[in-house]
Amino acid sequence: MKSKILDVLHENEGGYVSGQRLCKEIGVSRTAVWKHIRLLLSEGYPIESSPGKGYRLKEKADILNEYEIMRFMDKTTPLYFQKTTESTNALAKKIAPGEQGKFALIATEKQTGGRGRLGRMFESENSLGAWCSFILKPNMEPEEALVITVASAIAVCNTVQELYGVEPGIKWPNDIIMGGKKVCGILSEMSCETGAVEYIVVGIGINVLQQANDFSEELSKTASSLFMETGCRRARAEIIAALCYNMREAVEAVERKDAGWLGKNWSRFTATDGKFINIWKNGLKATVFAEGIDEKGRLLTVDEKKEKSVYSSGEISIRGINGYI
Ligand code: BTN
Repeated sequence: MKSKILDVLHENEGGYVSGQRLCKEIGVSRTAVWKHIRLLLSEGYPIESSPGKGYRLKEKADILNEYEIMRFMDKTTPLYFQKTTESTNALAKKIAPGEQGKFALIATEKQTGGRGRLGRMFESENSLGAWCSFILKPNMEPEEALVITVASAIAVCNTVQELYGVEPGIKWPNDIIMGGKKVCGILSEMSCETGAVEYIVVGIGINVLQQANDFSEELSKTASSLFMETGCRRARAEIIAALCYNMREAVEAVERKDAGWLGKNWSRFTATDGKFINIWKNGLKATVFAEGIDEKGRLLTVDEKKEKSVYSSGEISIRGINGYI
């Protein structure tokens, strides 16, 4: 019933719908409609009521719940939503072994213990971002997992491009940067059984609505949000649903080993190719020239002695691209 009321209010977003029409379309009494409107108000929906006109859902309400994500999504992807969870990656890893399909989405509004790479914490104890994880069961060898991480970064960039009309950059392998700061981080975790991939969890944290003082002092030096970089606000549900669509496309391209898709999209979004970058390996710093990636997503570089190298993720970290983070 709640979702039927929302369907009608969304169809007429910004405009009034009379109580009588709601009763008729849904087939319930005025008291029942009012009871559910009160429930929706308590969930944060900005609904206005006017005695003569009825009910109105204000435009561009940014409510994040299962209904709102599903509204924008293909109805075939399994969605697990929790209002608050410790970490969507942790939740995904619990769900993954029993998940029948090859692709599922886990989303939340707030994380109490968001996880970053290298055992770091990830600031996400707020309702300002798109915090989600994907369970993937691709047909691939464990050695190919890096390319999934790179493809996921491409999926994020395509999503931002579609919804905000701007092109972010990827700092290899998977940090998304805008205006020289990080707006999204990705944490991929893999489980293997007897040499084959059992599942991969790709956790994606996009800073959507933060303003500078929403970040801790330390993080504000290197982090930004889509709102800060573009001045636009998009509903987090819409971002997560669009990301889901782009993630499916990315995973399918990887599964069919589509080097054309990878190469074309990497060239569009790379922030490292054609630049001198500072890399750290085993505590040692070196400045090398980034030439591109190979079909496995590995970074190709050349140093001042013209010696070429191929790096996998985890082996090195990039700190500094022509003055960027
Ligand atoms: C990083 O840049 O260090 C990776 C950050 C990954 C954060 C996302 S938010 C959703 C998912 N759940 C987590 O606990 N982490 C990832």
